[in-house]
Amino acid sequence: MNKLKLVFIICIAAVTGCYYDKEDLLYPAGNCDTSSSSYSSVVQPALQTYGCIGCHSGSAPSGNISLSTYENVRTYVQNGKLYGSITHTSGFVAMPQGGNKMSTCDVNKIKAWIDAGALND
Ligand code: HEC
Repeated sequence: MNKLKLVFIICIAAVTGCYYDKEDLLYPAGNCDTSSSSYSSVVQPALQTYGCIGCHSGSAPSGNISLSTYENVRTYVQNGKLYGSITHTSGFVAMPQGGNKMSTCDVNKIKAWIDAGALND
């Protein structure tokens, strides 16, 4: 009887041990709400939060790239560099430089805004 219990426990351990619970990977969209991504509610605040504006604004912005206005940001949306840099895609310089990559949720929200036409909303 005890042997049977042991076998049972080992079986459970074997099954649950292989259970893969990385939420991001299992549910790429997760509980990240990308349905109301606008420039003013999502993109601009994210550029502030991740320090992008700190380097990419003023009279001598880093890399000579200013992200301080919608028109400036749109330029880098259209040439693909904004998305390439925040997703650390090869061929682009990974951003934020020297900082942590944006969260998957924030990247997805920005992608939703780009896919909807990158409007000044
Ligand atoms: C510490 C300063 C700093 C921060 C913070 C920073 N950048 Fe940059 N960024 C740079 C510099 C410097 C370059 C030019 C790098 C080069 O050309 O090698 C650059 C380049 C870029 C480019 C051009 C990339 C390319 O492939 O040509 C984009 C787009 C960009 N940054 C966007 C961002 C965004 C979006 C953020 C925030 C998530 C950010 N940066 C945060 C300094 C910074």
